[in-house]
Amino acid sequence: MRQACTLAELPPADAALARAAQRAARRAYAPYSQYHVGAALRSRSGRVFRGCNVENAAYGVVLCAEVGALAAAELAGAGDALEVIAVTGRPALGAAPAAVVTPCGRCRQLLLEAAQRAGGDIRVLCCNHDLSRIEVLSVTRLLPRGFGPRQLGR
Ligand code: THU
Repeated sequence: MRQACTLAELPPADAALARAAQRAARRAYAPYSQYHVGAALRSRSGRVFRGCNVENAAYGVVLCAEVGALAAAELAGAGDALEVIAVTGRPALGAAPAAVVTPCGRCRQLLLEAAQRAGGDIRVLCCNHDLSRIEVLSVTRLLPRGFGPRQLGR
């Protein structure tokens, strides 16, 4: 189910996660797209792992915010116990108000692996830049019938 809501309507822990993603977006290095993305992942035990996008003069070498957050979670030993991610993006100053960020295709694939390792799915809080609009989705909804470790019998 696709569900749009405001920050106030989220459970407090999810609202805090969205704010953590918003703070992470302030760290983005995005001089080329001017699109600052922040991601915050929460594990079952309540630990939060954040990431921001990191761009490069060789334009194709960009690191998405979700990648940084996933790497931080893995490093902490929580890569198989993730339950929810919040993602938010801020466009260049003066640009039209931003729509919610939905993870790119590569990030959906990476999140699908994390979801299957966690035993099912991961909720995805897709937020706009000021958190006034949040769509609560899930990895399997964003990437239906995706190829994951289960297909390899793992
Ligand atoms: N970006 C992310 O960090 N995550 C996404 O899921 C979508 C796109 C970044 C990559 C690039 O630095 C900028 O947003 C514009 O595409």
